[in-house]
Amino acid sequence: MTNQITWDDSYSVNNAEIDAQHQKWIEIHNKLDYILLKGNNAEVSKAAADTLQAMQEYVNSHFRAEEQYMKEINYPDLVVHKRLHTDFDDYLYSYQRKVRSGELVLNSELMSILKEWLLNHILHEDQKYRAFLMQN
Ligand SMILES: [Fe+2]
Ligand SMILES: [Fe+2]
Repeated sequence: MTNQITWDDSYSVNNAEIDAQHQKWIEIHNKLDYILLKGNNAEVSKAAADTLQAMQEYVNSHFRAEEQYMKEINYPDLVVHKRLHTDFDDYLYSYQRKVRSGELVLNSELMSILKEWLLNHILHEDQKYRAFLMQN
């Protein structure tokens, strides 16, 4: 089972910079999903931990940039949105640590959790600031 994601224009939040960041996140996600196909050995789990760490760091910098943007447009639900970011960042960090220590093995269930969170966040939560901006 694959958890690859293909960018669709309906994901756009109408901001080229943020769309590019979401595309980069999808690219790292797909890379991680691809690593899973290579099976399970020490080399693969190191690659998985490295890629998860790269995802966590990239997503973290995306969240900071997006929060700054929401602040600039006076988005009213910034605090709630920030909380979702923080929670997900905590999950990613702990997954990365667990995969690195061998406590958790990268599997399709984890990939589908990551995929669901990514798509749900981009399509529902991030779309809210887009809608806010269109109304104002
Ligand atoms: Fe967000
Ligand atoms: Fe986002």
